[in-house]
Amino acid sequence: MRISVIGCGYVGLVSGACLAAIGHDVICADSDDSKIRKLNSGEVPIYEEHLDKVIEAARSAGRLSFTNSVAEAVRSGDAIFICVGTPPLADGGADLSAIENVARVIASEARTPKLVIEKSTVPVQTGQQVKRALQVYGRDHGATFRVASNPEFLREGTAVGDLLHPDRIVVGVEDAESERQLREIYQPIMDGKFKCPIHAQGCPPLAPARFIVTTINSAELIKHASNSFLALKISYANLISDLCEKLGANVDEVTHAVGMDPRIGPQFLRAGIGFGGFCLPKDVQAFIRLAERAGVDFSMLKEAERVNKRRIDEFVERVHAALWIVKEKKIGVLGLAFKANTDDIRFSPAIDVIGRLLNEGARISASDPQAIDRTRSLYPDLTYSADPYATAKGAEALLILTEWPEYRALDWKRIRGLMMRPLVLDGRNLLEPVKMSELGFEYHSFGRPGTPVTTPTH
Ligand code: UGA
Repeated sequence: MRISVIGCGYVGLVSGACLAAIGHDVICADSDDSKIRKLNSGEVPIYEEHLDKVIEAARSAGRLSFTNSVAEAVRSGDAIFICVGTPPLADGGADLSAIENVARVIASEARTPKLVIEKSTVPVQTGQQVKRALQVYGRDHGATFRVASNPEFLREGTAVGDLLHPDRIVVGVEDAESERQLREIYQPIMDGKFKCPIHAQGCPPLAPARFIVTTINSAELIKHASNSFLALKISYANLISDLCEKLGANVDEVTHAVGMDPRIGPQFLRAGIGFGGFCLPKDVQAFIRLAERAGVDFSMLKEAERVNKRRIDEFVERVHAALWIVKEKKIGVLGLAFKANTDDIRFSPAIDVIGRLLNEGARISASDPQAIDRTRSLYPDLTYSADPYATAKGAEALLILTEWPEYRALDWKRIRGLMMRPLVLDGRNLLEPVKMSELGFEYHSFGRPGTPVTTPTH
């Protein structure tokens, strides 16, 4: 079966490369010509661990190609994955115009039967709209269409592993043939029968993926419900962290023990400056709008969003409390990406914090293992260095804004010697408060002893 992937953003590229890696013939299309030229010259436009190698191997094996012609990809594929962006509209809802455009191209270019699979994150009932668009715009061309939903749960930073070793594959279908085709596509993953491009020595023992078949509406809802629940969990942990501070408990101890309950689970309970990225914040908003339109009061989610926005205020207040005057002071920033192991700065809490401090006249010097280039286009006047020690040099405060594990392993004694004032505000609870105090730092984090019980006014 030939597979086409429309949209070479994060999900499209990782999906296309991994589907080729498990043995399918895949053509990926994007109307952004510069992106396709890069890909065709061997450049990968995003940083994602393993992705460059997986793409290269699949291209060399002749199983993966890229085109700027969506029409060409449509004509060649039996199964077409729609992976275009669904960015937020001003009212928080999802902009589905790219989905409609692709549906129109599919409708007008297809001459053979097509299984059209939505992989982009979309609000419930989008599948019905796609079906209608295919019927309306394809009425004169004689091709038949089946529509399915196959939401993607990959995380940036671990996307390739998530796709090749998923915990679940959700397919929303309306007929047996669509289910059969989707099973065929994912069979190598279900059977573990593919040469894993990221585990040369053999894959670690993992529970087999579950193949979950639902209606299209349910599959669409599962994606939004999953991301929104993760957001709720993080905001919950952040409120627990606030309580810990007020009442003298330690959020690490509390969330560790709470997360050991298998009904709750240990992940997504890390307190800090809150969630960012192009998925959780926009999906929460889109889900809120969707619930409103459906007449369901989901104010619980609004609260999670509000708690998350307040994290930035809270953090900036801590900077004020510790530094007093921000204007003209050199502040070092470690971490720009919205999370570790990515160069993605979209809706990154770090970017918000920097914007606020710049408005107050701070002199920011910043470091990140991957995200400097992207940040430079947003804030051209910051001082950047890939070297965290250079960033710390002469700084009156050092802010940790992304949870890059390598920051844990820095020579913090050396950093103390380099800074004008040994002050660290850790927005990701990455370091150990006791160790930092022992090293002579004034150290602040969230919800752990060593953090002031009340934020002084200034
Ligand atoms: C998220 C979901 O985790 C994926 O399952 C989903 O497929 C993806 O969105 C998507 O919709 O495409 P991602 O945006 O890559 O993945 O990032 P997450 O790992 O979810 O992290 C989101 C944010 O939450 C980051 O800013 C991270 O630093 C923050 N976070 C995460 C916390 O503040 N605390 C935690 O305990 C966990």
